[in-house]
Amino acid sequence: MKIGIIGSGGREHAICTFLKSSSKVDKIFCFPGNAGTSFIAENIDVNLDNFEEIKEKIKNLKIDIVVVGPEKPLVDGIVDFLEKNEIKVFGPNKISSQLEGSKIFTKKLCEKYKIPTANFGIFENEEKSLNFLEKCKFPIVVKADGLASGKGVYICDSFKQSKLAVNEIFNGKFGDAKEILIEEFLKGEEMSFFIISDGRNYKKFGSAQDHKRVLEGDKGKNTGGMGAYSPSRLENKELDKKILERIIDPTLKGLKDLNTNFKGFLYAGLMIVDNEPYLIEYNVRMGDPECQTILPRVKTDFADIINACVNENLSSLNLEWSNKKSICIVLCSKGYPDKFENNIEIKSIDQIKLPEDSYIFHAGTKIDNSIIYSNGGRVLNFVIKSTNLKESRDQAINLIKILNWENGFFRKDIGYKIIK
Ligand code: AMP
Ligand code: GLY
Repeated sequence: MKIGIIGSGGREHAICTFLKSSSKVDKIFCFPGNAGTSFIAENIDVNLDNFEEIKEKIKNLKIDIVVVGPEKPLVDGIVDFLEKNEIKVFGPNKISSQLEGSKIFTKKLCEKYKIPTANFGIFENEEKSLNFLEKCKFPIVVKADGLASGKGVYICDSFKQSKLAVNEIFNGKFGDAKEILIEEFLKGEEMSFFIISDGRNYKKFGSAQDHKRVLEGDKGKNTGGMGAYSPSRLENKELDKKILERIIDPTLKGLKDLNTNFKGFLYAGLMIVDNEPYLIEYNVRMGDPECQTILPRVKTDFADIINACVNENLSSLNLEWSNKKSICIVLCSKGYPDKFENNIEIKSIDQIKLPEDSYIFHAGTKIDNSIIYSNGGRVLNFVIKSTNLKESRDQAINLIKILNWENGFFRKDIGYKIIK
């Protein structure tokens, strides 16, 4: 089987790695991939906004199944486009991708199907938003509607802050804003919860806890994710049941009522308050870096899983998990998430000896004349799976020290709530 993977981050290198280890996969192409994927797959240079070009390349390379990693092409409808051209794809269609593409779409679905979420209001202009905010208790959360790479969310401690947020959003900071979402601040602990679905049936696909803030102790600016561990320390059978019955099932029913279904990975960003789940947001893809911690724990052949989904027979697949836990530390470019330099050489990465159950997944890297350079804010993911998260974290830090990349920085406290 020939597989195509769309995307170029750590998540896509992890997907590529586990598909590569399947005996059913003959060749993988990454669109466009990174330095890490270039060692195990063929990178195809392509503009991800140009679906026509992607389709032509997929056809010419005779790719059997395409796996879409990031949200942007999904929200833009790449699945519908490729399926119309008779290409098999793993990922949700454009309507279902609204779960991530529009926070207001998701909130309305929550309201209709009584899915637990923060209380909210939707406002169509600055004046109405401010009239409402004047009467609110703080903190409060102000959100732009569309995709904003994790930046369209403002946690506001005062009216003044919320006024600034409303102002920025309606002045086009995240594109043309017709509506704004204002919601209650929920105090609890976050959890990333995943399912995989073939459009008819679904299975739980693990949980993780990521650390989005740039500084230790979960302080500082929001990032794409500085590290994660899996499973989440909050996971338990009773909570799983509540999440599936109160959040996942009614969401899938809502999509069914819209005459569609969900195929692919669905990632529920939850706030857990006293063992009660509330939906904060949906993502229609795997999390990054959550994916890098979850895939190493899957024992079932990953190509069989993808194949079962694409062919709508996930119910007959036995999904097996390792009892081990995993942790991922992200090595970033100094300055991230603000200004940072690219094209800094990463020396001797190929000389690092990786023990069993250890992985280095590339994210923002590229290769030129056999030399690896940084090419983004989040550069490398160090992942260790074992029975002891503290030892795993120490090992990951040790690998980062061996690499000794002078332009890098990372958080030493990933998993601090579970690692005493
Ligand atoms: P989102 O992009 O919707 O996931 O929001 C980004 C981050 O903002 C989340 O991961 C939470 O940490 C925080 N957040 C969003 N909504 C709320 C809320 N209603 N209450 C508390 N924190 C929130
Ligand atoms: N780790 C957060 C995300 O993938 O959106």
